[in-house]
Amino acid sequence: MSEKEKKQVRDSNISRRSFLKGVGTGTVAATVAPTVLIGAEKSAEAQMDEAVSTAKIQLNINEKSYQVEVEARTTLLTVLRDGIDTSGNNVDLTGAKLICDRGECGGCTVIVDGKTVYACMMLAMDAQGKQITTVEGLADGDDLHPVQEAFIQHDALMCGFCTPGFIVSSAALLNENAKPTLGEIKEGLSGNTCRCGTYPFIFDAVKTASRKNFN
Ligand code: FES
Ligand code: FES
Repeated sequence: MSEKEKKQVRDSNISRRSFLKGVGTGTVAATVAPTVLIGAEKSAEAQMDEAVSTAKIQLNINEKSYQVEVEARTTLLTVLRDGIDTSGNNVDLTGAKLICDRGECGGCTVIVDGKTVYACMMLAMDAQGKQITTVEGLADGDDLHPVQEAFIQHDALMCGFCTPGFIVSSAALLNENAKPTLGEIKEGLSGNTCRCGTYPFIFDAVKTASRKNFN
C-alpha cells in the first residue's frame, strides 16, 4: 500500500469514528429526551393537582337536596356513586353504572330536567339547579315503576349491568311518548347497549309498560 493510500485509510477511519461518535450522541439524546419530558409532565401534573380547587354545590337528586364538595372536573356520575355530602353521608346512588366512561354505552343514564343524560359525560357543576332522577328515584316507595315491573315480568335482563340505564331511558321515553311503536322504542333506546343481547325482551317490556301505565 502506498503512503498516499495509507493516509486515505487513516482519514476514513477518523471520519467513521467521528460519525459513529456523532450517532452515539444522537442516540443517547433520543433516548434521554423522552425521560426528561416525562419527568417534566409529571411535575406539571403534580403542579396541577396542587392547583385543583373545590367548590360546594347543591344538587337535587330524586327530590332530595344534597350539598357536595366537587372539583371542576368531577362528573355527575362520580357524585352519584362515590360522592359524600357535607354532613359526611354517602350519596350512595349506585344504580347508574360506570361502564365505558365515555358516553357510548348508556349504563350511567339518568334524567336531568326531563331529558336523558349520560351522567359520566356531565360535570356535576353543570347539574346545579336541575332536577336529577336516577333509577332509584323511579319507584314510589315499595311500588315499582311500571317499567321496572315489566322488566321483571319479561325477564328482560341477563347480567343486569345495563339494566338501570335501560330502565331510566325507557321511563323517559314513555314520559315523552305514551304509546311508542316498536320502531320508536328501538330509536328511543338506541343510546343504550346490552352486551348480553336481551333487546327483544327489553322492547317487549317497554311495550307492556306502555299498556300498563297509560291505558
Ligand atoms: S358509562 Fe356513561 S355512557 Fe357508558
Ligand atoms: S343484561 Fe348484560 S349487558 Fe345487558
